[in-house]
Amino acid sequence: MAVIAPSVLSADFAKLALEVEEVKAAGAEWLHFDVMDGMFVPNISMGIPVLKSLRKATDMFLDVHLMIEKPLRYTRQFCQAGADLVCFHVESDTRENIAAAIALARQLGKKTGVTLKPGTPLEELLPFVKDVDLVLVMTVEPGFGGQKFMEDQLDKVRRLREYICGQGLGCYIEVDGGIDENTAPLALEAGAKVLVAGSAVFGKADRAAAVAALKAK
Ligand code: DX5
Ligand code: ZN
Repeated sequence: MAVIAPSVLSADFAKLALEVEEVKAAGAEWLHFDVMDGMFVPNISMGIPVLKSLRKATDMFLDVHLMIEKPLRYTRQFCQAGADLVCFHVESDTRENIAAAIALARQLGKKTGVTLKPGTPLEELLPFVKDVDLVLVMTVEPGFGGQKFMEDQLDKVRRLREYICGQGLGCYIEVDGGIDENTAPLALEAGAKVLVAGSAVFGKADRAAAVAALKAK
C-alpha cells in the first residue's frame, strides 16, 4: 500500500494546523515539508520556525525535503526542530559534505534520504543509497508545486528499484512532483512506495477523496 505524503507547500499557511488535521483524518501518513532557499532552487518557501510550529501541531511523520545550498550548515537545526526524516540533494554540496549531513542526521536519531534533480544521472546518487532510509526521485524540476509529471523519470525509479533489490537494501523510493490519481499508479508500478502530492491533495476541497484517489491502486 502506498504511503501518502501531502506537501504542505500547497496548503493554506494561514491555517496550517487545520489543513494538517484534515489530511491526517483523510488517511495520509506523512507530511512533506519543502525547504527552499532561493539559491538551490528559484523559490523561497519555509524553514526552521515553521517546522517547529508544525511539530507541536501534529504527530504525523515529518518528511523534510531540503532544497538548499550546503545543507550540512542547517542539518542539526532541522533535526532539532522536529524532522523525522531529512532528505538531501546530491547536487547541493560535495559528496563528502552530503555524507557528513546524512551521518549527522542519523546520529541525531533521524531517518535520512537522498534525492536528485531530473537532469542528474542516477549514478551520482547510488553511492549514498546504502546509508539512507529513503531515495526521492524528483518527477518535476524542484522549486514549485503544480507542475507536470515528468514521465521520463520513471526509468530512474525502475533502475533504482533494481539496484535496491540487487543490493539487498530496504530503503523506500519516494516520488515528488506532478503526482495525481493518473500518475500515482505509474510511479507505484515503477517501484515507488511514498507518493508526495501537493496540489492533488491540498488543492482539492475534499481531502478524504483526494487521498483515497491516490491510494486507489
Ligand atoms: C517541488 C516540491 C514538491 C511540490 C510538489 O519542488 O519538492 O514537493 O510541493 O507539488 P505537486 O504535487 O503539486 O507537484
Ligand atoms: Zn518536495
